[in-house]
Amino acid sequence: MSKQFWKPSNMLYPLPAVMVSCAREGEKPNIITLAWVGTICSDPVMVSISVRPERYSYNIIKETKEFVINLTTEKLARATDFCGVRSGRDIDKFKEMKLTPMPSKKIKAPGIAESPVNIECKVKEVVPLGSHHMFIAEVVGVSVDDGLLDEKGRLDLRKAGLIAYSHGEYMSLGNKLGKFGYSVQKRKKRKR
Ligand SMILES: Cc1cc2nc3c(=O)[nH]c(=O)nc-3n(C[C@H](O)[C@H](O)[C@H](O)COP(=O)(O)O)c2cc1C
Repeated sequence: MSKQFWKPSNMLYPLPAVMVSCAREGEKPNIITLAWVGTICSDPVMVSISVRPERYSYNIIKETKEFVINLTTEKLARATDFCGVRSGRDIDKFKEMKLTPMPSKKIKAPGIAESPVNIECKVKEVVPLGSHHMFIAEVVGVSVDDGLLDEKGRLDLRKAGLIAYSHGEYMSLGNKLGKFGYSVQKRKKRKR
C-alpha cells in the first residue's frame, strides 16, 4: 500500500453528526448540528461537544449550562444538514424543519421529539482550545423511543436507522460485522 503524508487535518472518521438542542428561558429553542462530539467517560457518564464561539448556540449553552444531544437518523438527515448551515439568529429551526420541542426530564433545554434518543447534558467545564471551545458535560438522563426495545426490553439501535458523518458526507450504516468481543468468543462446536 503506497501512502501520501498530509499536513495535520481532522481525519477521525466516521463521526456522529448530532442535533444539539438548547434554549434560554422564555426564548425560542435552537438546534445546532455538531460533529466534533465525543464520549469521554463512563462513570460518571460524560460527553464533550466542541462549538465555535461565533455560533448563536455557543452563548446559550455557556449561559444555561445545558443541552440535549439528539441522535440523527436517515429520516432526519435533511434536517441535520439544515441545522448545520442556517443560524438560529435568523430563523426558528424547529419550525422550519417541522420538528417538535420535547420537554426534558432533568433539564430545561428541550429535546427533539422526532429523534429516537435524547441525551440530557449538564455542562461541567468549558475548555477554550482555539477555533472551538470544548464543553465537557455530564449526562443526567437519556430518553429512548419505546419502539426500539425488543420484547425483553433490550435496546435494538439497528431499528433506528442512525446515520454517520464521514469526510463531509452523511452515510447510513451498513451491515453488522460482529458484536462486542466476537473476535475472542469461542465458536459453538458444529454438531456432526
Ligand atoms: C455536519 C455538520 C457538522 C458540524 N459540526 C460542527 C461542530 O462540531 N462545531 C461547530 O461549532 N459547528 C459545527 N457545524 C456548523 C454549525 O452547525 C453551523 O454553523 C450552524 O449554522 C450554527 O447554528 P447556530 O448559529 O444556530 O448556533 C457543523 C455543521 C454541519 C453541517
